[in-house]
Amino acid sequence: MPIIHRPGWNAPESQVTPQALVTGRRALMASALLAAPAAAQVGAAPPLPAHTRNERFQGGRALTAEREATTYNNFYEFGSHKGIWRDAQRMARRPWRLQVDGMVENPREFDIDDLIRLMPVEERIYRLRCVEAWAMTVPWTGFPLRALMELVRPLSSGRFLAFQTAQLPAVMPGLRQTWFPWPHVEACTIAEAMNELTFMPIGMYGQPLPQQNGGPLRVVFPWKYGFKSGKSIVRITVQEQRPNTFWGTIQPQEYGFWANVNPAVAHPRWSQATELLIGTRERVPTTIWNGYGEWVAGMYQGLEGERLFV
Ligand code: MTE
Repeated sequence: MPIIHRPGWNAPESQVTPQALVTGRRALMASALLAAPAAAQVGAAPPLPAHTRNERFQGGRALTAEREATTYNNFYEFGSHKGIWRDAQRMARRPWRLQVDGMVENPREFDIDDLIRLMPVEERIYRLRCVEAWAMTVPWTGFPLRALMELVRPLSSGRFLAFQTAQLPAVMPGLRQTWFPWPHVEACTIAEAMNELTFMPIGMYGQPLPQQNGGPLRVVFPWKYGFKSGKSIVRITVQEQRPNTFWGTIQPQEYGFWANVNPAVAHPRWSQATELLIGTRERVPTTIWNGYGEWVAGMYQGLEGERLFV
């Protein structure tokens, strides 16, 4: 008797689903899809306001392909692997509120769309350098953090800013990893917050900021390692004491407070001399301050005793 080897897709007639059941299920799916546009609108971000590119901020490299920048992410609230982008879609970007409090003259809680209307929105191309030695070049749409600080007016006693990420257990499976010190908090000094480069993206590649990249609102410090750039921010607190930060709490020897990019200062477990460009996989030399020294190096004069790098 010949032995028939069926490929996996070749199901015997007995296992084939009857036609009526298939079409019935299709009809059901079609009606669900028809209802989907309305459901998809819940929590969606509106289009970005009209804005122009600020030509002072050029990436100096080819832009990373949008698809690469939006599918290769670090966002531990959604999981500790690079492919969290799909799961992150479940996080609603509206409504969204930002609380700005602590040592400020005008503590305020903003609805994000009210805040955006108050801010000078523009596009800037920045390089982003992760401490893991990969890099991207991204066109961000957003506003300088300084503009927001001018609204709330930090008191002279306020020396640091703490940026707190949303904690949404229903959509963030990573929060179940209870050994991490949630919520994610990152921090900077007042001088760093007021630096012209410190930017609060609400978009990238001309679109509202995707959840996996920190939508609807994040911070970026392009001269520092990417772990300082907190995502999906709900609260900014101005305070006198240096805040405890997420990575600084987990591994203080490896992730310092300042975390400025420097090719000459290795991470304890790997070199920082070069970086891998996401998308092209080209390896290029890293530059001190990620190439932004003319904007930022002056801020660190007198702080040479601090561990300024990594
Ligand atoms: N912010 C939060 N809340 N959680 C995170 O895990 N990862 C950081 C930073 N911001 C992280 C975060 C790290 S390590 C990097 S390199 C950048 O986000 C990555 O940003 P990207 O995914 O937009 O490239």
